[in-house]
Amino acid sequence: MPVLPDGDPGTDHERTGAGGTADEGTADEGTGVVTVGSTSAPSPTHSYRAGPPTWQTAPVGQHPNGMDDDRDASRDVPGDPTRDAPGSPSSDPGRGFDAATYGRSFADVYDDWYPDDDATAAAVGHIVALAGPGATVLELGVGTGRLALPLAAAGLVVVGLDSSPEMLARLRAKDPGRTVQVVDGDVADPARWPVGPVDVVVAACNLICNLADAAAQERCVHTAALRLRPGGRLVVEAFVPAPLQRGRHLEVSEVRGDAVIMIATDADPGTGVVTAQHMEFRDGEPVRLRPWRIRVTRPEEVDAWAAAAGLVLESRHADWSGTPFDPQGSSQVSVYVRPAP
Ligand SMILES: C[S@@+](CC[C@H](N)C(=O)[O-])C[C@H]1O[C@@H](n2cnc3c(N)ncnc32)[C@H](O)[C@@H]1O
Repeated sequence: MPVLPDGDPGTDHERTGAGGTADEGTADEGTGVVTVGSTSAPSPTHSYRAGPPTWQTAPVGQHPNGMDDDRDASRDVPGDPTRDAPGSPSSDPGRGFDAATYGRSFADVYDDWYPDDDATAAAVGHIVALAGPGATVLELGVGTGRLALPLAAAGLVVVGLDSSPEMLARLRAKDPGRTVQVVDGDVADPARWPVGPVDVVVAACNLICNLADAAAQERCVHTAALRLRPGGRLVVEAFVPAPLQRGRHLEVSEVRGDAVIMIATDADPGTGVVTAQHMEFRDGEPVRLRPWRIRVTRPEEVDAWAAAAGLVLESRHADWSGTPFDPQGSSQVSVYVRPAP
């Protein structure tokens, strides 16, 4: 295990950050029935790209975290007069969130919402081609191993770092042969990173946004540059955010005879932080809350951090399949290289 750090990788540690999103519905003018395009509700019959990561595939013009730019103010959550009162219960929207929040919220549905589909296969193919035979890959926020397991099966040495015991438990259950080396750690903490050097660092599926403050995001890019061997690459897959609309909003994601799914968001355009709750109300069941928290970041901001860390932007596409990048679009897959001396 040459790329792993000394010490117990499973040691508990400080935690920060989370992530999630919502999805927009459509109205049938004939029947007056409102149907929601994709849903945040778990169901084995759906191929979800909704819930936590709808931003990944959000259509152009729809805000990838479920907040469209021209939203109707009547859908906003009524104001809370205590909101800005110092010390009031609602004055700190980050209260109760940490680096393991995302995994606690979504581990039970993650593999249903993110199946092994064409997009996953394209991501794996892209990374395998970038890395080359037998290369070492570090995946940040490895999750349940959606990418890491097929990467290891393709012959790469794969190390996964993740702050969620729930997500890592699912990865381990799917990997009895331990083909992926796992480190329990917060990406925002460089001390938890494997020592490297590695050939490719992967930050897929909006991992960079899961780090819910700019300093942590910048530190992540900087640490990646330090862990790459010369000629190595950092790959960032993330949504490209539209301007945030300040304040609290409520999105009704799905209405059924026995359930309603809603997503409440609280956005701060000043910091780029979106704090949210994915809420599931099912008849006869306790309310299920799935909290998430992200900081949106645009490609130019990541480019600047990468350049400061000595990385050079090598390519940028809209997806893993090589679709040309559209600055007005909603997604990016960017590859940065650490130049060889
Ligand atoms: C959207 S999932 C992506 C999982 C996997 N990379 C994939 O593509 O399927 C984000 C993952 O990042 C992890 N994560 C979130 N914040 C983190 C942090 N601060 N440090 C380490 N992992 C984090 C979550 O636990 C989760 O497993």
